[in-house]
Amino acid sequence: MFSRRLFLASSSAALWIPKMAYAEGGKPHFTLGVASGNPTPSSVILWTRLAPDPLNGGGMPRGTADVRVRVCTDEAMRNAIRDEIIQTSDEDAHSIHYKLSGLKPGREYFYQFYFGDEESPVGRTRTTDLNAPEAKVALAYCQHYETGHYAAYRDLASWVPDCVIHTGDYIYEGGISALGAQMRDVGGGERRLFEIVRQHTSNEIVTLWDYRNRYALYRSDPHLQAAHAIAPWIVAMDDHEVDNNWAADIPQDPEKQTPLEFEIRKYAAFKAYYEHMPIEAPPAFHKMKATLQLYGKYHLGPALIHLLDTRQFRDDQPCGDGRRPYCDDAQDPNRTLMGKAQEAWLTKSLKSSPAPFNVIATQVWFTSYRYNETPEAPVTNLDSWDGYPGARERLSATLADGISNPVFLTGDWHTAMASTLHENQFDPKSRRIGHELVGSSISSYSPWARDMEVVRDANPHVSYLNGQQRGYLRTTFSRDNCRAEFRVVEDSGRPDSPVGTDVEMRTKDL
Ligand SMILES: [Fe+2]
Repeated sequence: MFSRRLFLASSSAALWIPKMAYAEGGKPHFTLGVASGNPTPSSVILWTRLAPDPLNGGGMPRGTADVRVRVCTDEAMRNAIRDEIIQTSDEDAHSIHYKLSGLKPGREYFYQFYFGDEESPVGRTRTTDLNAPEAKVALAYCQHYETGHYAAYRDLASWVPDCVIHTGDYIYEGGISALGAQMRDVGGGERRLFEIVRQHTSNEIVTLWDYRNRYALYRSDPHLQAAHAIAPWIVAMDDHEVDNNWAADIPQDPEKQTPLEFEIRKYAAFKAYYEHMPIEAPPAFHKMKATLQLYGKYHLGPALIHLLDTRQFRDDQPCGDGRRPYCDDAQDPNRTLMGKAQEAWLTKSLKSSPAPFNVIATQVWFTSYRYNETPEAPVTNLDSWDGYPGARERLSATLADGISNPVFLTGDWHTAMASTLHENQFDPKSRRIGHELVGSSISSYSPWARDMEVVRDANPHVSYLNGQQRGYLRTTFSRDNCRAEFRVVEDSGRPDSPVGTDVEMRTKDL
């Protein structure tokens, strides 16, 4: 059981000052906190980064620096099972990705880094356990720094999950917005109030230097640090970690950059992502192509989680992207959202899965959503699975073929949602294949919330929709049920905002 001291430290993150002795005459180095990730029954990745000047390249001198890591079975850090020196280097922005192996399944471990006399905060992590009766999994995504504080992460840390899934938009690549309240068009002649509560520190990011500083800015938030320190994360990026709505090797604005320039930008973005995430392998740049391995599976008791990467291997969005009616392009059955290799991996894993719940964590909505009331010419979001109907049909057919309790946990659209999935989405008499649960975005607002509300009746498969509030999702899996709590932030303009449950539902009731 998790004890009270670290719990209090993380749940009151506004007051949380990392326990660190300042280097003599200098600045603290563990300014970005600690993290763990990629949990298995016997290992996790431990992360930190030395960054005495985090918003300005990190501030470490060129070359290498030694950091000590200590891992204990108790939060008081008395019973050490590991004590090692790790070398960091300016090549990876003095980040650490330490693979801690030889662990026992379903156990908590506590870890701390030391640089000279300076101590990092203590992190808590947990190995997975195939035989655990229950799994507590939090889902987070879309955390625009400028449009809200991270009260949701304060609340997430207080829940002490077994694992956190992040499905992307960890950072946003855009420039600096004007502070304060703004009225923005939300469609249908309606305008709603949005607030810029804090600012990015540079124009649109393009270089490795830019991306590093942007990650450091986001990671300087104490609530985000608390959420990383409380549980292992499994992460995959969506679009804004690189460029809005990019697809494989195609940027948002192909006219503004050559294919090679975009590939170099992607590599910079992937590298900075790696340097700030608790993942094992760095990106590669091979034959003028940047790649980063992100998709994978994680087995937590009743839930086998497949985390997808629907950005790196997809065909371009059809029909010019955006919310539009289908053109012929979209109907090509060979179009792919995951790429052939990932699709084959997912199909094989699902078909051999022994788990009562098969979770598919994906960046973009699997559920179809119509933005008009003309069924014969539906307007859909072509960046989501709606733009890849052939790929969705293939996965739906796999799921309909006896896969136990598929549950999609999804991000992207800044709108909380629950739906029942049918083989033919708009025919409730067709075979039921599972559920999709989408928590709200951590802080990114939803300019299309109104557009979605006015066409609710055209989307009867959606049982819950909330684009007005920020938040995240808590899911608790047991052998015969998945309980979902849609947590919502009262006022995302305040770091100390109360956070509560808007709706709670159980898949066995749906
Ligand atoms: Fe987003």
